[in-house]
Amino acid sequence: MVDMSREQRKLDHIRYALELGDGPLPNGFTDMHFLHNCLPELAPADIDITTTLGGIKLSVPFLINAITGGTDNVIDINRKLAQTAKSVGAAIAVGSQYGAVKSKSSYQSFKVVREVYPNGVVFANVSALATPDEAAEAVKMLDADALQVHLNPAQELVMPEGDRNFKGLLDNMRRILEHSEVPVIVKETGCGMAAEQIKQMLVFGFTWFDIGGAGGTNFPAIEAKRFTSQKSVLAEWGINTAKTLTEAFSVCGRNDIIIASGGIRDGLTAAKAFALSADVVGMSGNILRYIIEKDIEEAQRALTDIINDLKMVMLLTGSSDLKALRNAPIYFTGELREFLLGRNYD
Ligand code: FNR
Repeated sequence: MVDMSREQRKLDHIRYALELGDGPLPNGFTDMHFLHNCLPELAPADIDITTTLGGIKLSVPFLINAITGGTDNVIDINRKLAQTAKSVGAAIAVGSQYGAVKSKSSYQSFKVVREVYPNGVVFANVSALATPDEAAEAVKMLDADALQVHLNPAQELVMPEGDRNFKGLLDNMRRILEHSEVPVIVKETGCGMAAEQIKQMLVFGFTWFDIGGAGGTNFPAIEAKRFTSQKSVLAEWGINTAKTLTEAFSVCGRNDIIIASGGIRDGLTAAKAFALSADVVGMSGNILRYIIEKDIEEAQRALTDIINDLKMVMLLTGSSDLKALRNAPIYFTGELREFLLGRNYD
């Protein structure tokens, strides 16, 4: 059965994500700096930006992150997002399949992504409340390479129809993890993850994290806009992306996978995320805007610019690959520096 309120919510999210844009919190990366290398000893052809996630190879370390699906009205958007990802070789995640799987409806709005991008790296997406069977159904729908399980407590609290009880989530996620045949990515949606919770998840066996920091698309603000003309008190809630990446970096091991997302919009910022140990950079709001307000060619051009700018920064830091970029000299100023000095990860 088609759930009209779910369909409307999906359309509202797109509308208000575009209307509100990023912010108001900064993503934090202006407080992180590279030192210029005046003797890079590299040519552009030497720069290798391939990345490997577990066993999954990506020719470019970018992900068009979860946006939409679950209503036939967005089939065209998902087709265009998949075409854009395919044009540059990026990975793509679909929006939440939870409602669709529950109601056994609108599968085509997700399947179109796999149809357009048969050899692509595609991630399924469900709520942390999903049962293992529902999660498996979402993966099967797309023949997905990995499964995102999203966490969004701040968004839920602002939504009048949202969840209020977050007890038992981690246990439920563990059940999903135990039964999943593909890697499970725990994903925040714009409020970030603190080291304390990442550590808890590591203990439970999770090894893939999309830290989804604040600084880009802002769901508390979007939900507030849907229901009231008043700004949500949570509009400035959350850990910005630079800070939450340092949280993940401080507690994750070498083999854990970190996806950086939340307001990353250009190649220099992406390079900073990679220097802080991200394996992949995810973007949603900016790509959606290109698709809706311009066209696929513009979206593809924007992504290509981001990729080329990343390579330029790599060259100017003497980094021939993403691993080398992790060792590029950096320093921190301002609030990010204060934050790093004030945190204790023991
Ligand atoms: C999202 N995002 C999202 N995430 C998720 O896990 N499941 C979902 O269904 C959605 N839906 C959704 C709709 C729209 C319109 C947008 C713009 C975003 C969140 C997204 O994947 C990402 O975590 C945040 O948007 C932060 O990244 P950006 O937009 O700042 O690059």
